[in-house]
Amino acid sequence: MKHLLSTADLSREEAVKILDIAGEMREAGTRVVKKLPALRGRTVVNLFFEDSTRTRISFEAAAKRLSADVINFSAKGSSVSKGESLKDTAQTLLAIGADAVVIRHPDSGAPARLAATDWIDLPIINAGDGTHEHPTQALLDAFTLRRQLALRDGVSATGLGLDGLKVAIVGDILHSRVARSNLWLLNTLGASVTMVAPPTLLPVGAESWPCTISYDLDQVIAEGVDALMMLRVQGERMRAAYFPNPREYSRYWGLDDARLGTLDAAGAETLIMHPGPMNRGLEISSAAADSPRSTVLDQVTNGVAVRMASLYMLLSGDLI
Ligand code: CP
Repeated sequence: MKHLLSTADLSREEAVKILDIAGEMREAGTRVVKKLPALRGRTVVNLFFEDSTRTRISFEAAAKRLSADVINFSAKGSSVSKGESLKDTAQTLLAIGADAVVIRHPDSGAPARLAATDWIDLPIINAGDGTHEHPTQALLDAFTLRRQLALRDGVSATGLGLDGLKVAIVGDILHSRVARSNLWLLNTLGASVTMVAPPTLLPVGAESWPCTISYDLDQVIAEGVDALMMLRVQGERMRAAYFPNPREYSRYWGLDDARLGTLDAAGAETLIMHPGPMNRGLEISSAAADSPRSTVLDQVTNGVAVRMASLYMLLSGDLI
């Protein structure tokens, strides 16, 4: 594993190893460890061509907690606005002394292009590219699921996959790199996936994916599911033709108060997940987002541990 570009590239052994190392990064099961010397003297560059709160900050926290130096690059305010290319930007970072590049880019495939060219010979981590993939988000989601289930069952999470787990990914699948990365990883770890979406927000070809497709969220909830992974409606990527009516979307595809009540009345143990940022009142109600079932903030915390594990595996030479 030289780069982390797509969860489709990960074997079950590699994925479980990343989750296990992330588990070691959690202190006493509640906090992420504050500082390890593992990457002292190494420099991680966060190369962000698209806005981010969670991913950029947690990669920065992860690198610093491994004692690496961090350079944060944001395309806004950089020479990208003067027309500088990805190649010249990347080679400038190499000349400055980068040892690894974490890249978020609006174009699907930009991280893979950086990894495939001879522009720079550094580990590349995809921090989200267009509608393609967001592998560390899927890894932190898997980590969250695995840890929650292990806590519930009173067993150690180490070495476990997600065998037999039923996960519904709900909403704007068309524009979601989170959905795609989760689909591949959840399958690799043994979970079964149902994609729930309006027909206009499913990509062409989704019927050939390794999942069940549903257009009925209430039916999926009634049949029972271990986790509902709600997706952000990505207005910024939508053409007018796709943009749903907010009230209609919330009524049919949102995890609203009524659906939360259905879960509670049934005594279901269903977890509520969201990668953030959330459109409260659209794909998820505030009551659902803030309920005891919600793992939203736990996912953010786990993101630091998973990103520490990813940087550690790529930079320390502790490869499979
Ligand atoms: N989940 C996620 O990628 O959030 P950010 O866009 O804030 O990084």
